[in-house]
Amino acid sequence: MIVTTKKLFEAAYGKYAIGAYNINNLEQTIGLFRGNLRSQAPFIIQISKGARAYSDKVFLEGLIRSADEVFPEAIFAVHLDHGDEETAMDCIESGFYSSVMIDASHEDFETNIAITRRVVDAAHARGIVVEAELGQLGGVEEHVQVAEADAKLTDPKQAREFVERTGCDSLAVAIGTSHGAFKFSGTQSLHFDVLADIQKELPGFPLVLHGTSSVPQDEVARINAAGGKLEGAKGVDASQFKQAAKLGVTKINIDTDGRLVWTRVHREVFRDHPEVFDLRNPGKIFIEEYAKYIAEKNAYLGSAGQLPAVRALLG
Ligand code: G3H
Ligand code: 13P
Ligand code: ZN
Repeated sequence: MIVTTKKLFEAAYGKYAIGAYNINNLEQTIGLFRGNLRSQAPFIIQISKGARAYSDKVFLEGLIRSADEVFPEAIFAVHLDHGDEETAMDCIESGFYSSVMIDASHEDFETNIAITRRVVDAAHARGIVVEAELGQLGGVEEHVQVAEADAKLTDPKQAREFVERTGCDSLAVAIGTSHGAFKFSGTQSLHFDVLADIQKELPGFPLVLHGTSSVPQDEVARINAAGGKLEGAKGVDASQFKQAAKLGVTKINIDTDGRLVWTRVHREVFRDHPEVFDLRNPGKIFIEEYAKYIAEKNAYLGSAGQLPAVRALLG
């Protein structure tokens, strides 16, 4: 059942975070649904602009509709990840997405507000919810001067003004994470102090973390042992997710980890079975390994086991 992220956030706020997982193809879709059902978790499917272009946006919609039919117990939102204004409007008009992200965080404050407001107005007119972003992810490293690092983090006072003026339904904040497999040069530093200040300014308002893959070190080691070159890859410590949830984070974005599972499975299969040329061979293993990964991640997020409560809330 496709629902808005708003409903999921109402259920989760202050208690746990919902996993938001990016998909690009059939195998990821099946693994995602199996893993979430196995762990009895509500979830968010994320589709990026790149994913819409990879096959065709119509294929992705078709895959999700089919999964909804094959797994009728699943409760999930369909969300555009990092939309520009044109893509967000296209998703709103399609009537398929229950949630869109408008990411104008690279623009100046006033332009970000103006673009976000236009998307919010269009989305709300059709019952669709909007995630916006303030602050900039990436590049916040231990060795960076504090002032320079802080300049990229979300300003709590600005966050309040931004939400009031745009009417967005959730806000992605920058507290030290970054996209991809190489997040921290030294020991990791999530700025929980900044997150706590944002929550004080926006009590009860759903916050979102991007760039939150854990980059499991066993995956990295196995990829490297099978011919990969990902030395130094590092992610967010998943044991910090529950602390983030208490501070208002209701959505945690994960894409890179799924790619790592895919890479590990395929590298190992072709290394260990050079005679294999049936795509279903690594495909089957990937689906199972990805489902396992999702179920484990949901335990860290606290979303595991929440499906019956969410179903009851939806009535
Ligand atoms: O935050 C970005 C996501 O990881 C999506 O990546 O644009 O390569 O599909 P992508
Ligand atoms: P990761 O690169 O850490 O998986 O982040 C994904 C993300 O933020 C998608 O929007
Ligand atoms: Zn992101």
